Amino acid sequence: MTTPTAARLPQSIRSRFPVFERLTYLNSCSQGALSDVVRGAYDDYLSGLETTGSDWDAWVGKQEELRDLLAALLNTARGNVAVTTSASAGLSAIASALDFSGSRNRVVTTDLDFPTSAQIWHAQARRGAEIHTVRAGSSAVLDLEELAAAVDERTAIVTVPHVCYRNGAHVDLAAVIEIAHQRGARVVVDAYQSVGARPLDMQALKPDFLVGGMLKYLLSSPGAAFLYADPETTADLVPTVTGWFAARDIFAMSIEGFDPAADARRFEAGTPAVPSLFAGAAGLALMLEIGVESTAAHVAGLCTQLREGVAEIGGTVATPATAAGPMIAVRSTNAPALVAALANEGIIVSDRDGNVRVSPHCYNSAEDIDHALRVLTAQKGLLV
Ligand SMILES: Cc1ncc(COP(=O)(O)O)c(C=O)c1O
Repeated sequence: MTTPTAARLPQSIRSRFPVFERLTYLNSCSQGALSDVVRGAYDDYLSGLETTGSDWDAWVGKQEELRDLLAALLNTARGNVAVTTSASAGLSAIASALDFSGSRNRVVTTDLDFPTSAQIWHAQARRGAEIHTVRAGSSAVLDLEELAAAVDERTAIVTVPHVCYRNGAHVDLAAVIEIAHQRGARVVVDAYQSVGARPLDMQALKPDFLVGGMLKYLLSSPGAAFLYADPETTADLVPTVTGWFAARDIFAMSIEGFDPAADARRFEAGTPAVPSLFAGAAGLALMLEIGVESTAAHVAGLCTQLREGVAEIGGTVATPATAAGPMIAVRSTNAPALVAALANEGIIVSDRDGNVRVSPHCYNSAEDIDHALRVLTAQKGLLV
């Protein structure tokens, strides 16, 4: 199959996502739509249980297949990718590898970060970490000068999201990474709200760590997530939050010591969520076939259409004008009521922080956005 171009999206793929037979699904920031191949992958897992019973080799093989696909997605080597069960598991493994007992004990985070990130870093206070939060506030734009002022020779790690889960704001990752590296601090990027929808090239970007998961724009399942670790800047970090799947030889079964894998696999832990590996590999393979760059271009057009439509109705978009998607957050006087009103008309979106989050992906059409705009017009009283 040739890669669909932006001009051919969504027609070339829409029929593979049955939810569109019933609904206008615009909630990929929460969960990607289920495709034929992901449903088939769950079936393959179940069929395997019936035909072979317990096929550990096949399950470990599926994890390696997912690792290969993630490496292709991120433009990196497979050894730099850990397959985790959640973004939180990856962040906790990273945190556990850091030493907060010395003078570099500060973590600089932001109010654009997802709560799990903030909470995991606050949890390190018991191990000596000092947390500093840079606040974008209502502007939703991270002030790089403020960040630069907060990062110094006491900073161990800077943590930022690529795209904010509340309002769709983008963080200038290259600038943040430069600021941190100039001061000898590492960076962990939470790319959960962009991975699959925006290109992410580890060789070009060079973060120390990047985490994300499979269930949103990678079209698959909770239970499978990933962590990228730069071997040049993180090789000395060995997690203490760990398990037998992090061992150099998983099936060595030693109880006499801890011999972690030398590559990023040392950030893994216990038995993977095997059904999610099947779904994850199928969803990611489909996303790579559809193309992340084509998707980003297609979605940018839908986001512009939505922005312009909301402005015409007299509403306000909380997402800064520079953000090209995939999420557009619409301000509301009562976001849960607006989400419910849209759901009544068959439009699925979600709300956070007083915003209705509309998050188109490769399978959404201009008609989907028009449908949402018609209902937003009818519900004008709930817009700000
Ligand atoms: C930006 C971001 N990070 C992290 C998470 C949560 O990740 P997990 O539940 O896999 O730890 C989410 C979930 O919506 C998210 O949007």
